[in-house]
Amino acid sequence: MQASFTFTGTPETYIASRGPDVPILFFDPAALHTRFALFQSGFPGLVTYAVKANDTIEVIENLHMAGLTTFDVASPVEIARVRDLCPDATLHYNNPVRSAREIQMGVQAGVASWSVDCISELEKLIAQGATGEIAVRLHLPMGGSAYNFGEKFGACPEDAVTLLQRVARAGYQAAMTFHVGTQCTDYSAWDHYITTCYDIAQRAGVTLSRLNVGGGFPAHRDGVAPDLTAIFAQIATSVERTFGHKPPKLVCEPGRALVSECYQLLVRVKGRKANNILYLNDGIYGAMAEWRDIGPVKRLEIMRPSGDAVTDQVDPFSVFGPTCDSLDRLPGIVALPHTIQDGDYILISGMGAYSNVTCTPFNGYGVVRRVTIAP
Ligand SMILES: Cc1ncc(COP(=O)(O)O)c(C=O)c1O
Repeated sequence: MQASFTFTGTPETYIASRGPDVPILFFDPAALHTRFALFQSGFPGLVTYAVKANDTIEVIENLHMAGLTTFDVASPVEIARVRDLCPDATLHYNNPVRSAREIQMGVQAGVASWSVDCISELEKLIAQGATGEIAVRLHLPMGGSAYNFGEKFGACPEDAVTLLQRVARAGYQAAMTFHVGTQCTDYSAWDHYITTCYDIAQRAGVTLSRLNVGGGFPAHRDGVAPDLTAIFAQIATSVERTFGHKPPKLVCEPGRALVSECYQLLVRVKGRKANNILYLNDGIYGAMAEWRDIGPVKRLEIMRPSGDAVTDQVDPFSVFGPTCDSLDRLPGIVALPHTIQDGDYILISGMGAYSNVTCTPFNGYGVVRRVTIAP
């Protein structure tokens, strides 16, 4: 992974002074600190970070420096990365399917908490000598998110009861976890899951050491900033209503909502054809990979190479990425100033999550330079 370097100025002055021809992710450390402070002060429990959303040095180190102690990791590579940057960090390995070798690496790295969603994977954890906490991951068939991770992972309530009993019998701290799906804007999803977790723990006759309410907290994608404080309040109310005066300690593991605002993506127009067709220097094989699945981010600023804003009346455009694949097209029709031209720039806000981590080098593109903006 290439390093980020620091520029004193703004994206506009960077454009004017450097005229970059490759895509750039501009990092704003203050935005990351602000968002982490919101979680720290508002979430009624331990705030951890899902490294998969953005694994850059600057994100991991800034969060750690700001007081984040615990990282949710999904693979040995993420484990090594966090251990390298923050040797004293606590690790939660919450990818519920792991090879025996991966479990051994987690054990060696001192993983403190594991999630599991089926009996064969639980037996594998026990056989490989995992210690600490095991959280049973629940899946409920429900909507409300832009993309439902539950399709892939999670036990149904009946199986979760059996798993929880086996976890407790094997001598682990027994916890539960779930993921409402990423970019979840139906705040009642957390209530539904929390109520069902309570029910499962009751049926299993197990006292939960902790309840991990996962990630899924929404980011600001289209002009309406989500109310994270309302989600925190909803979670606190649900836990109080169901678990009463003996609630489990709470954990959350946001990815997207923590890092989304701390990067802006700068892309450049490579060419304009008749009928309002544009080609950019990045696309769905690059930092916009998830747009095909969950829709585009609509917070765009258009600039000339001078850094001046272009605010002319908009027209509908078809926008393609730089590769030779016709699939490399931004979803839908994009509203852009009718005067946009070859060499102009588009600055896209809210691009910190699932952008650099999902880039591919297809056709020699997808390399996104990272620049830290120092005001
Ligand atoms: C176990 C787990 N926790 C947390 C996250 C982060 O989710 P989000 O970025 O929607 O907050 C994910 C995303 O895949 C996940 O799989």
